[in-house]
Amino acid sequence: MKMVKIIAATLLVTGAVSFASAATADVNFKRCIACHGTKAEKVPPGGTIASATLTAAEIKKTLRSYKTDKTYGGKMKATMQIQVKPFSEEDLDALADYIFTNFHIAK
Ligand code: HEC
Repeated sequence: MKMVKIIAATLLVTGAVSFASAATADVNFKRCIACHGTKAEKVPPGGTIASATLTAAEIKKTLRSYKTDKTYGGKMKATMQIQVKPFSEEDLDALADYIFTNFHIAK
């Protein structure tokens, strides 16, 4: 019986977390605006590309790579490694979906 309660509690918590990351992507994106623009339309200082021109899959791969692969990125990669630190990989996916859904500019 105790086991059932623990599993139920775990499911509840996991569900709540994934819901929270989708709902807070717009809040999390506010951290990106200074360098990437209000619609991710700017090339960040020292960067080479505007995030709004990327697909959701490309943004996900990029953000996850900045988090997990210290060698990934251009000459300003250290800047992005700091930016992605507070976020889980699920938060980063939600951010990528948010940017693509709201701001995508076809190339
Ligand atoms: C302090 C400025 C700064 C902030 C804040 C910042 N970025 Fe960046 N971002 C950069 C720079 C500079 C690069 C290029 C890094 C490189 O050389 O690899 C970059 C690269 C990227 C890239 C890869 C390609 C491109 O330029 O689009 C993505 C995607 C990205 N950032 C998303 C984000 C997201 C999402 C946030 C908010 C959580 C964020 N950034 C916050 C400066 C910033």
